[in-house]
Formats: sequence, C-alpha cells, structure tokens
Amino acid sequence: MKKTIKDYDLGGKKVIIRCDFNVPVQNGIIKDESRIKASLKTIRYALKNNAKIILMSHLGRIKTEEDKQKYTLKPIAESLSKHLRKKIIFIDETHGPKLEKAIKNMKEKDIILIENTRFEDLNGKKESNNDKNLGQYWASLGDIFINDAFGTIHRSHASNLGIASNIPSGLGFLVESEIKKLTKLTKNPKKPYTIILGGSKVSDKIGVINNLITQADYILIGGGMAFTFLKAAGFGIGSSLCEKEKIPFCKEMLDKYSDKIILPIDVITATEIKENVQTNERFLGEIAEEEIGLDIGPKTVEVFKQYLDDCKTIFWNGPLGYFEIKAFSNGTKKIFDIIVQTKAYTVVGGGDTARAAVTFNYQDKVSHVSTGGGAALAYLEEKELPALSIINEK
Ligand code: 3PG
Repeated sequence: MKKTIKDYDLGGKKVIIRCDFNVPVQNGIIKDESRIKASLKTIRYALKNNAKIILMSHLGRIKTEEDKQKYTLKPIAESLSKHLRKKIIFIDETHGPKLEKAIKNMKEKDIILIENTRFEDLNGKKESNNDKNLGQYWASLGDIFINDAFGTIHRSHASNLGIASNIPSGLGFLVESEIKKLTKLTKNPKKPYTIILGGSKVSDKIGVINNLITQADYILIGGGMAFTFLKAAGFGIGSSLCEKEKIPFCKEMLDKYSDKIILPIDVITATEIKENVQTNERFLGEIAEEEIGLDIGPKTVEVFKQYLDDCKTIFWNGPLGYFEIKAFSNGTKKIFDIIVQTKAYTVVGGGDTARAAVTFNYQDKVSHVSTGGGAALAYLEEKELPALSIINEK
C-alpha cells in the first residue's frame, strides 16, 4: 500500500503538494473551481499539522511566451485564499533566488504557490520531459512530497515523477479517494454494469473499451464517436465525425460484442454547429450528405434508459452530444436525469463530462465526479502509471 500524507509527521516540515489546478480560466476569471475545491482537504490537513506548505501545479500547455500571461496561476492563488481564508504567497517564478528566499523565510502554516510548472516547458520542455535536474531542484525545496494531482497521475513529469524520485513521498486525500472510487469499477463491480461512452474520438476510448468490455454488461455509445461505429455498422452518417482508421476496430468490436454494444437509433442533425441553427431528428438511414450528427435523438434516450434503469454500476465518460449548444444538449441532460434516478453506483469521469455535470447541476447527484479526464481513463485501462508507482510504499 502506498504511503499517504497521514504517514508523515508534517510539523515544521516543508511539504510540497502537487495539485491539479488545471482549471478553465478566461480573462483571469476561473470558470469552474471544482478541482481547486477538491484539493482543499489535503491543504487543510497540512495546515492543521503545522506544515510549511509549498503548492505546485500546471495550467494549460505553454508553447509561447504569450501563453505565460494566459496561464499564470495568479487567479488560482486568489481563489485558494478565498476558500482557505488565508493569505497565499504567490511566487511568479518556477525557479531562482526569489523562490528560494521565500521558502527559506517560511513559517509553519505559511502557504506558497509556485508559478505554473509548465513555464519550464519553454526551457527545453523540462517539465513535460521530466528533466532530471529540474526534478532534483524542485525536490531540494522541500522535505516531503505529496502527490494530490489525480488529473496528472498519467503524466511522467518533473513536478510529479521527478520530485518523488528524490524525496520521501505520499499520496494526498484526493488521489486516495479517486483511486478508491474508480477501483470499484474494475474490481468486482456490482452487476448489471453499464458503461456510457461519448465524446468525439474512438481513439481516446480504445484502451478503456478493451479493458472493461468483458466486465461490463453493456456499453452505450453516443457523442461524435458513435458515428465511426455507425459507419462501421454500414449506416450513412452524412458529414458527421468519423475516424476512418478506427473503422476496423469498431467492426471487430461490433462483431465480437454485438449483444453488448448499443448504438443510437436516431440522432439530431444540423448543417452547421452554432446556436439557433435549424435541427432535424433523423433515424439511421435518413441522414443527408450535408448533415452533421450532433446529439442522440429521443428514441435513443428511451433505448438507453432500458439499459440503465436496473443497473447497479454505471460509468460514464464523454458527453453524448455537443452539449455546449442548447439544441444539442438534450441527450446528455436526459441521460443525467435517468442515471440520478437509478440506485446504481454512478461515476462520471472526463473533463467534458464533468463540465456537463456542473453545467446542468448534477455534480452532487451522482456518486462521484472524477477530477481526472485522461487520468481516469488511464487508471481504468490499468495502465502503468509511473507518477503513482514511484510513491513510497508503507
Ligand atoms: C487534465 O486536465 O486532464 C489534467 O490536468 C492533465 O492535463 P494535460 O492533459 O494538459 O496533461
């Protein structure tokens, strides 16, 4: 078993906590604070135990100097300060004398937030390539490393794998809880077990389909990815999304698991993706060449309901339509309505699906909304996760 924050005496120690503060920020305004709120339990525990707390996170992807302004962690410092009712010392650098001096002067219960770890990517991709010296340098700033960034558990970066390779390490409460909740989907899940998959790409879901198809009773497929499956099944899909190179995979799955994979029987189409566009309800075989499928239709919702009503376990990754536009949000909303009325253990994972849960206010009505997108899928694929494996054992 992995060590956790509770296995360390934190009093007076410099505790580096890697969080996932990769939240949507527009013009300096945070659009969804869920990931920040999810990190508070670990930070509060470290505060209560008199640690000197050093917080680190990435935000976005940094490719140019201009990206730095867009992706500074400054708004995160303000949000943390509001939630913790405490001053956060924000250091607008990722290395150097200013940071080192601030850490040297820390008192117990002080909290420093270091600037976006991916600023180091402008410097030869040092963060994302897990540069050995950078990992060593960051580790030298603290005594103990706590990984609480579930959303990046599938990445091998200097700010997780690199630091943990150099100083004693443990997991934070968020990572511990995510693992516990997601493990219920892979280790003897209660049956019947239905998985709902959506989002645009089949390629993102191949691992999870391969790993979970034998455990699950049904896989309901919607969203953009449904059209590659529909094409593989021989239907015309007009101008809808299609990953041609994935058609053979879809065909193979449909041949092998025709009793398990449930595809839409009707869809909502339009000729453009925009608000107030004219929409059409189409059964399969009726989609015109210029039409794009953008949501599951009402008959599909009824069919999916039959596979969800008596379930004991439900996992959902990927919205079923282009839910950001009202005319294409119905399928995703209706399926939320259905799953919250079941008695099943319901887990919603993936950045877009989590955002849909928050947008339609279902986040507190399901059993768990995972803070991880790619990370949750990688965990369910039972892939090797070096940033998790490196954490010290008890
Ligand atoms: C996420 O949003 O899924 C995580 O924060 C990881 O971000 P990344 O895909 O940019 O590594």
